[in-house]
Amino acid sequence: MSPSLNCAHRSGTFQVKPMNETEIKKPAGPVQDLKDMNVLVSLCKQRGFVFPSSEVYGGINACWDYGPLGIELKRNMKERWWRSMTDREDMEGLDAAILMHPKVWEASGHVAGFVDPLVDCKNCKARFRADQMDQAKLAAKDCPTCGKKGTLTEPRQFNLMFKTHMGPLEDSAAVVYLRPETAQGIYVNFLNVQQSARQKIPFGICQIGKAFRNEITPGNFIFRTREFEQMEMQFFVKPGTDMEWFEKWKELRIQWHYSNGIRKNKLRFHEHAGTELAHYAKAAFDIEYEFPIGWSELEGVHNRTDFDLGRHQQFSGKNLQYFDEQAKEKYLPYIVETSVGCDRAILAALCDAYRFDGERTWLEMHPALSPYKVALFPLMKKPELLEFSDKLYADLKKNFRATYDDAGSIGKRYRRQDEIGTPFGVTIDYDSINDHTITLRHRDSMAQERIPAEKLVEVIREKIENWG
Ligand code: GAP
Repeated sequence: MSPSLNCAHRSGTFQVKPMNETEIKKPAGPVQDLKDMNVLVSLCKQRGFVFPSSEVYGGINACWDYGPLGIELKRNMKERWWRSMTDREDMEGLDAAILMHPKVWEASGHVAGFVDPLVDCKNCKARFRADQMDQAKLAAKDCPTCGKKGTLTEPRQFNLMFKTHMGPLEDSAAVVYLRPETAQGIYVNFLNVQQSARQKIPFGICQIGKAFRNEITPGNFIFRTREFEQMEMQFFVKPGTDMEWFEKWKELRIQWHYSNGIRKNKLRFHEHAGTELAHYAKAAFDIEYEFPIGWSELEGVHNRTDFDLGRHQQFSGKNLQYFDEQAKEKYLPYIVETSVGCDRAILAALCDAYRFDGERTWLEMHPALSPYKVALFPLMKKPELLEFSDKLYADLKKNFRATYDDAGSIGKRYRRQDEIGTPFGVTIDYDSINDHTITLRHRDSMAQERIPAEKLVEVIREKIENWG
């Protein structure tokens, strides 16, 4: 039930106009998707989703700041992921420290193996990843950027972990790393969580947190950055049941992306085979999204076997085995991992939502992700309209993230909200005062309907719940 609207203009005798959906307006031209990432970068900056980091100093490569709308979108994304995990009885949450004992990264294999082959051009100073280059150009040492022949260096291995020092001494004994993935914090806490939460295998531990990688070729906006946020889940299972769980999690994860409103034809699985398969993995699939830069990894689902727990057991000297009380047996569980970058999920949501019809730009985003669910527009800045609007706004804000705009023409106000993906607009006019109805406008169809003001919360809630 919507809370009742306590409006001074409300009369017990007015006639509520019947709900009538006006004719759906036609787009100005053929509706286009996002083709050029720069268009999105510019929209995100203008509207306050994402700004280049430290912009007043000229920016810092591959670091981005989330603005007022970006942080709402990010919070919505994280909340949806967190709820999808922790609503399960077989899941526990964790927030491990970013700085960990340096031996963690020796055990995990990151110190020795988290490397990319780096190639420099001695002429133009451009930098490349040898494994992503045209192999003929690499062999001939020809620079793909400046075109000069024979100017590339030999590939050398470059570790992607950021190093820093703990405490005042900057010697080698004090070296610590900014974590390049959140997963290891879960592995080293496996028994702490299992025993304190009294979980039995199979169960999972999930975590959202920052990760850092000194990427050689970052770019494509927030697709590949040096500081990013991961949403990772590690599911601990009995060896032998791992492939069954792997298949279950693959399916659950793609369904989660669908539930965010991402179009099904823009998502696909890509299986890692042969050399693509990480040293720790028995099986791995990427969930790929068709970004404007082409099909690229959005999320990874990995069967990591008992590699990680085995290595931490070996390097720490601590027994990390699970004791199955019923079967009276001890074993190292296998781990099925799901790992998605929050920033990458946001990029996919933005790319997928972007629409342009030649005149109008709008984000056709799932309302659960939209920064604002509803925007309120008094048609004019007249005291009686403002009084009505203020009361309705206060009522809406108790229920949804809402915003208010009384500046400029109503058309411009609609456009502003369309560009930030607000699914519903509410216009208050003089009829609103007389008959206590408002106009509800729908972002995607531009359809407008007249409904009683006191039904508004209920109508919006119902439409969000049954979206898509
Ligand atoms: N624990 C497993 C792991 O970290 P990964 O494939 O290296 O696996 C998982 O990363 C996810 O993290 C990727 O699918 C991507 O969404 C995100 N990710 C990885 N590197 C990133 C970067 N430099 N910038 C933004 N997101 C990144």
